[in-house]
Amino acid sequence: MTEKREYTGDYPNKRLYLPGPTEVREDVINAMSQPMFGHRMDRMTDLYTTIVEDTKEFLDTDNDLTILTASGTEFWEATTLNLVEDSLLVPTSGAFSERQANVAERLGKNVDRIEYTWGEAVKPDDIKTALETADTQYDAVGMVMNETSTGVRNPVEEIGEIVSEYPDTYFIVDAISCLGGDYIDIEGSGIDAIFTSTQKAFAMPPGLAVCVVSDDAYEQELEKDSASWYGGFQRCLDYYDRKGQTHSTPAIPIMLAYRRQMKHMLEEGHQARDRRHREMAEYTQEWAKQHFDLFAEEGYRSQTVTCIENTQDIDVGQTIGQVSEKYDYVFSNGYGDIGEKTFRIGHMGEHDLESIKALTDAIEDVAGL
Ligand SMILES: Cc1ncc(COP(=O)(O)O)c(C=O)c1O
Repeated sequence: MTEKREYTGDYPNKRLYLPGPTEVREDVINAMSQPMFGHRMDRMTDLYTTIVEDTKEFLDTDNDLTILTASGTEFWEATTLNLVEDSLLVPTSGAFSERQANVAERLGKNVDRIEYTWGEAVKPDDIKTALETADTQYDAVGMVMNETSTGVRNPVEEIGEIVSEYPDTYFIVDAISCLGGDYIDIEGSGIDAIFTSTQKAFAMPPGLAVCVVSDDAYEQELEKDSASWYGGFQRCLDYYDRKGQTHSTPAIPIMLAYRRQMKHMLEEGHQARDRRHREMAEYTQEWAKQHFDLFAEEGYRSQTVTCIENTQDIDVGQTIGQVSEKYDYVFSNGYGDIGEKTFRIGHMGEHDLESIKALTDAIEDVAGL
């Protein structure tokens, strides 16, 4: 059992290079300190309609969008309950895609996996074959766009084209660790539901999850008793249509922060954010190749998280600790089974080339590279 460890309030600030949570601008943090107001007041309608419509503008989508008080995990459950009657196809290639499959199984769905070795990307041809040879039509294909455990960016655009040939099969995309830092044409890629958490490339505090929902996905739920209550598309979207608010009490302070940060994101623009993230990723990948190796398959490397293969056998835990101690920068170890064999740098949100270089310099110093 974990013993109580008193929170002292006395901790040095660390610069976060994690694959989320990531750095949040100071004015965005400050935006949360407001006297509380009620979630049924007009002021709430102003706030919620602003953040929903600004996000649609940023993502350049005409689809419906909901912002819920939850972490992104909520939308693994909700999209499964809302869109999958019976069967779901899930390509698994790392910890998060495996968990997506597992969540659906726990909800009683029949899940067919296409299993890849960690570090490999999902191949569109495999999805095509699985859809062509399935005995019955899948209710949905569910996949992770950016596999945070391995640093792989999957080709969801090509896969979406394939899934679009099956009008009764929905396409569900977990874009949790990349949306906002890796451009995606949502409608153009035939995506029915795509979701993220605010603590990743949106660079906001954790606590809200965002999901973009196609008209077809919304319609699908109308007759469905098994749809999620909390994350039900209709419940969320109808409430928004009628009242411009959320169906239950949201985390208002985080929405205040969201409003502020989304203005910054709009100012920069989706494409420019994509370019900045690509630059950071290219720099980090080059650095990693110079000193170590890359874990993700070539041609499919993430714009927001680089997973580095620890070819020098450095003590990952110790290096992370020393960099934190000496520089107040925090990066991440590898995930699960590849914990010591890899480490990860999150270059997402508000980071830029300069801040990423500061981290790689610190790692070089501490690890004697
Ligand atoms: C790809 C992916 N999916 C799902 C999750 C879970 O997100 P959350 O912790 O916001 O529920 C994460 C978290 O890191 C993730 O990277």
